[in-house]
Amino acid sequence: MESRLDWDGWNYGRASSLDAGSQRFSVKNNLVKARIYATGLGDYVLKINNQKVGDQLLAPGWTDYLKKVYYQTYDVTSLLKSGENQLDAFLGNGWWSGGLGWGGGFHRYSQGPLRLLCQLELTYADGSTEVIASNKDWKIRLSPVIYDAMYHGEHYDARLEAKGTDADGWVTPVVLNDAQNPTTLFGPNKDPNVGEKADIFDMKKMEVVAQEAPPIRVTETKKAVTVTEPKPGHFVFDFGQNMAGIVHLSIPKATYSQEVVLHFAELLHEDGTVAQENLRSAKSTDRYICKSNGEAEEWEPMFLYHGFRYVEVVGFPGKPTVENVIAKVIHTDFQPIGEFSASEEILNKIYSNAKWTLKSNALSIPTDCPQRDERLGWMGDAQIFVASSCYLMDINSFWAKYARDIADSQHPSGYVYDVNPKMVVGGPSKPAWGDATLIVPWTTYEFFGDKRILEKNYESMKAWVEYMNTHTSTKKAGIYYFSDPDEKWFGYGDWVPVVASPGKPIGGAYQIYSNTLLAKAAHVLGKTKEAETYAALAKQYTTKYNELYFKDNNYEGKTQAANLMPLSFGIVPEKLKPVIAKNVADDVKAHQDHLTTGFIASQQILPRLTDYGYNDLAYKVATQKTYPSWGYMAENGATTMWELWNSDKERPEGMNSRNHFAYGSVIEWYFRYLAGVEPIEPGFKTFRISPKPPKGLNRVNFSYQSLYGPIVSNWERKDGKLILNVTVPPNTVADLELPLQAGQSASLEGKKLKKGVSKLQPGSYQILIQ
Ligand code: BGC
Repeated sequence: MESRLDWDGWNYGRASSLDAGSQRFSVKNNLVKARIYATGLGDYVLKINNQKVGDQLLAPGWTDYLKKVYYQTYDVTSLLKSGENQLDAFLGNGWWSGGLGWGGGFHRYSQGPLRLLCQLELTYADGSTEVIASNKDWKIRLSPVIYDAMYHGEHYDARLEAKGTDADGWVTPVVLNDAQNPTTLFGPNKDPNVGEKADIFDMKKMEVVAQEAPPIRVTETKKAVTVTEPKPGHFVFDFGQNMAGIVHLSIPKATYSQEVVLHFAELLHEDGTVAQENLRSAKSTDRYICKSNGEAEEWEPMFLYHGFRYVEVVGFPGKPTVENVIAKVIHTDFQPIGEFSASEEILNKIYSNAKWTLKSNALSIPTDCPQRDERLGWMGDAQIFVASSCYLMDINSFWAKYARDIADSQHPSGYVYDVNPKMVVGGPSKPAWGDATLIVPWTTYEFFGDKRILEKNYESMKAWVEYMNTHTSTKKAGIYYFSDPDEKWFGYGDWVPVVASPGKPIGGAYQIYSNTLLAKAAHVLGKTKEAETYAALAKQYTTKYNELYFKDNNYEGKTQAANLMPLSFGIVPEKLKPVIAKNVADDVKAHQDHLTTGFIASQQILPRLTDYGYNDLAYKVATQKTYPSWGYMAENGATTMWELWNSDKERPEGMNSRNHFAYGSVIEWYFRYLAGVEPIEPGFKTFRISPKPPKGLNRVNFSYQSLYGPIVSNWERKDGKLILNVTVPPNTVADLELPLQAGQSASLEGKKLKKGVSKLQPGSYQILIQ
């Protein structure tokens, strides 16, 4: 058998052009098995005898290419026939060289060349094998994809498709030997403490490993709900839902050389044409040039995706119908495992918005948004939404992969980056962003019970915590804070809030939280000494935090966020907790039952209000329909979560995405409090059922496909009673805590339940509260 190929074996071209490679080979009779192992730098699409190999999109996915690239494995037995066969490969820039980052996307891992590493292994009935691999025997040519850049679009000139003749322009590849390339991922950098050097990209050092998480696939197709023609020849398709995806174009009767242009957007101008201003420098425009006269033609892009609800089609031969432009929703293909609905419509709408925002922002990595010149793995967004996502989807391997992305990009000094795989922003990461290093693996472990995520990432988690614990600010002030050299800017703080809170304490709050999580992880892994050390440090920083930031029964800033963060991270001394919770509740009331929080503290507000006896107030905030609120977004046309509470009013051409999952963290409260289900032991081996029905809500239905089987928590108010139906799956135990008001009692199948926690063994139960 031929040995595996070296990366240098087959490469050609520049990043700005697209390559296609082709190999003819012969298959003998009695083939029993055929597998392809493949990867690329950037993306690749394989075809055997003109049929696409696999159903994955944007392979090999996004990793820190300076360290690692995934390979994919395909069973292609059914695509081959005895005799002559042809294997074709198309290469595109993908995340590798298409340009990333705001301001024109000038950050890239490489200027090229594009590379393919591909090995087809044939196994015959007699046990003999053959290998067809990417090497200099292939023929190559420029492909019909004449341009592709993740943010800007894909241009396809169908006239350039290979026709199987000498005129196709196939040539023999030039084997380049450019194993090293200096790669600068950081532009002019204003961040402090940064001594970022150009990374040297060295193919020999890059790990090529099997893909860990499911691939990106089409998970749904959508037809437009309306097609309008706001300007002659401009057809606007409204898919009724903001999403990440591509469109499939079908032209019933083509006109030779006609260019069909597709502009993608989340929004419309008043005149009904698409509004791309908030995509900033991203052009989000695909182009297709027809190859025939009068024939039907079909096309969809191979190397990118867009964030969109609307598509404006220009240059279509004739008048397009809903059949001609079909949206394909794409994301990392994890399966849904949680379902929630309630009797209050606004909750269902917000829930749907959050779910769609997850689907739009899980494309190999968790992105901040899917549409503008960004689409990056911002850590703050990820850590805020990770728990919500674990209730929704079977997403364990996606987060396990992201935890590795964080560790792969981590600086040798221990600091991590705001964006992972690292890109655009130099280190160190800011408070609440860097702490995703701990929060992502820990939360994923809590939900799915797989300890390997802690084992694999413990050193990376510890290095980030140590970075904070030994930082000069910790030495100076006794607690970590991030700052610029002028001590004026302390990080992103409670990002894009209604009322700003001081940023400095957020550094300490997250340092304490991260030390606490590290201690827990150490405990799980049997590192008793380290568990004690980090728990003691968390305690020590807690004392310092209260010394520095607590005054007059309030935390510095006195905002909702300023009080919520210490309350959520166990920093507030026991006897003061009701006081601090009341500060938050009073402030909410002073804002006519509205929140004033940003990305970070919005995750905490409803849970803390409920914890400390303000559940009805939490419900008012949750169902509020005036600004600022989740309901306000939903009532004003949002089908995914906005980046800003007032996205409808602010900066039409600036930082203003309509598809950011951070504010989606509200749904965590639906599951943990309205339905009342949360893990106690990792993976729901033991779990809590403790619904908190607020005044005004009559029904909640929640089901969750845990590793042990379905968990159910449904409740309904009927004739003055509350009926609760729960299911506890095999091999688990539930702690049932009932929402008993004074004078109420509960019974299970006629038997009165005692107050406090009842242990429920596997089974389905009906409980009556009256
Ligand atoms: C991103 C955010 C991110 C933030 C950091 C923005 O441009 O879209 O979601 O967390 O920068 O402050």
